[in-house]
Amino acid sequence: MAKILITGAGGYIGTTLVDMALDAGHEVVALDRFFFGEHLMRDFLNNKRFSVLKTDIRDVSQSDLEGIDVVMDLAALSNDPAGNLNPDLTTSINYKGRAHVAEAAKSAGVPRYILASSCSVYGFGESTDLTEESPANPLTEYATSTYRAEQHVMEMGDKSFCVSATRNATVFGLARRMRFDLVVNQMTRDAVQKGRLTVMGGGEQWRPLVHVRDVARAFMAIAEQPTGKVNQQLFNIGRDNYQIRALAFTVRENLPFPVTIETLPDNNDRRNYNASFEKAREVLGYKAKYDVAFAVNEIYQAIKKGDVDLGSRTVTVEWYRHLLDAQQIVSQVELNGRIL
Ligand SMILES: NC(=O)c1ccc[n+]([C@@H]2O[C@H](COP(=O)([O-])OP(=O)(O)OC[C@H]3O[C@@H](n4cnc5c(N)ncnc54)[C@H](O)[C@@H]3O)[C@@H](O)[C@H]2O)c1
Repeated sequence: MAKILITGAGGYIGTTLVDMALDAGHEVVALDRFFFGEHLMRDFLNNKRFSVLKTDIRDVSQSDLEGIDVVMDLAALSNDPAGNLNPDLTTSINYKGRAHVAEAAKSAGVPRYILASSCSVYGFGESTDLTEESPANPLTEYATSTYRAEQHVMEMGDKSFCVSATRNATVFGLARRMRFDLVVNQMTRDAVQKGRLTVMGGGEQWRPLVHVRDVARAFMAIAEQPTGKVNQQLFNIGRDNYQIRALAFTVRENLPFPVTIETLPDNNDRRNYNASFEKAREVLGYKAKYDVAFAVNEIYQAIKKGDVDLGSRTVTVEWYRHLLDAQQIVSQVELNGRIL
């Protein structure tokens, strides 16, 4: 049994990873400031091997990390639109915040640190099957901060501090904190709710994709390897590469009712990349299990049963905008610490 501290534990991947690490018999410390609500941890609270550390990653101290065996560092503003809200904030959380967590972990004597990076660091790839050796070409603030964090923590790896990073493909599938701003999830929700889904940007662009449980499995697989195999190593984590238009057809084929596909022409999103997952297979013996069809079905069933939040919290940038607007309204009407 290891003591694992997961930052971003209240997020889409984080909630799935907490579940998986507890199931595997580990002790879990869930570090998050819970932008999407602490209720997401409710089902874990009775587990004696689970505890919560409610803090901002930028305020983490060495003493918070003493006695931890593995830090899995997921906390971040987690996509391009959220990253564009305020580029300085994105740098302060996604780059400096994560560098700070890694530094605090190293000085606390934590032996292993795993960063959640992203295939979006590849940006616009000229070649197909981009490997971990291919040049990065981050196109957005989110991708740039992610890349800087990755480079920073990789250099910190040494004999006593094993550092790895997962370059995750775009994630899909059902989780406790649901995200409907991810392409498969959004297409499925729209098809179920409106009988129609939209392909943005022409649909020719490539994206690597991976199920949320497979991302959690990759973190667990890295943590189980001898350090010599994974220290200062990056791993692309994904299952399949899809062109977005073909993805829309796969979503439609896996729903038991007619769905209209609408294709919109070019947009501002220039991302187009197609990644190779060979290194994870060779070094970790890791293979992603769950495909798009599986996710479409589980999301459809959950929506049908009313088991999934469909509100604004599930569209990350909308929720962050809402929090910023709410803060402004409250600050204008609050007097001597009171609203009413
Ligand atoms: N979901 C994807 O498609 C995808 C793909 C590639 C990489 N990633 C990376 O994986 C990680 C997790 O993504 P996700 O989809 O679970 O995102 P998410 O938005 O669901 O979760 C992020 C979590 O981090 C927390 N957080 C944000 N800023 C924080 C701060 N300053 N201090 C403490 N907690 C903070 C939030 O409260 C949230 O619970 C991110 O680093 C993201 O960049 C995600």
